[in-house]
Amino acid sequence: MSWIIKVFRSSIGKKYIMAASGVCLSFFLLAHLIGNSVSFWGKEAYNSYASHLHSLGFIIYILEILLLLLFLIHIVTGITLFIENLSARPTRYAIQTKERNWSASTMPYSGILILLFLLVHLLNFHFITKTVSTAELVKTTLSNPLIASFYLLSLSGLTLHASHGFWSLFQSLGINHPKYNIFLQRGGRAMAVLIGMTFILIPLLIVTTDSFLQ
Ligand code: HEM
Repeated sequence: MSWIIKVFRSSIGKKYIMAASGVCLSFFLLAHLIGNSVSFWGKEAYNSYASHLHSLGFIIYILEILLLLLFLIHIVTGITLFIENLSARPTRYAIQTKERNWSASTMPYSGILILLFLLVHLLNFHFITKTVSTAELVKTTLSNPLIASFYLLSLSGLTLHASHGFWSLFQSLGINHPKYNIFLQRGGRAMAVLIGMTFILIPLLIVTTDSFLQ
């Protein structure tokens, strides 16, 4: 047990924890994105995907507990690193390195936005007594302009967060070479934009196209 405390106490240990939990959360995000992209094939296909997911029964519960743990680890470690960085750097960002760009310096704030999004999202889709199909639930919820706007804002925040997150992940894992860093940075950004924009397309199509998920 003491090695866990040792890892968590060291700065590099916390970076590894952020990287490892970030990789696992990215896999979840990708799986969730693929699942939700089935909505582009229509209401029946989307409902069929949802009922297949629910038929996994207790496996889903185990995955949900693991997911909750991952989010908690990522959030608590992120907040601890942020506070440590604040106290270690009284003159914040006096030296602006090339990597300390906008997405890097807004990481804690985009993180808070994602956390807020998750709470709203789970209240909308998870902690409810379902009386309609998943497609109808998603369609009615995201037809509300206020909720749709919040989704668009939060999913843009997610894109920004993942954009630096992927790059940071490569750094923490030692995937680093002066010759290829620019490709790693651009590749990470492209991946984040692809994931974020595909998610964004769902509320966007719901508010702009009557026939989507109808
Ligand atoms: C427009 C984008 C999204 C849509 C339409 C969507 C839709 C859904 C739906 C329908 C569920 C309930 C699944 C069910 O039990 O039937 C769900 C659950 C969930 N979503 Fe999303 N989601 C979106 C984006 C996201 C994002 C970006 C995240 C993470 C940052 C996320 C995290 C979760 C989590 C943690 C759950 C609970 C897992 C579970 O119920 O097993 N979702 N989502």
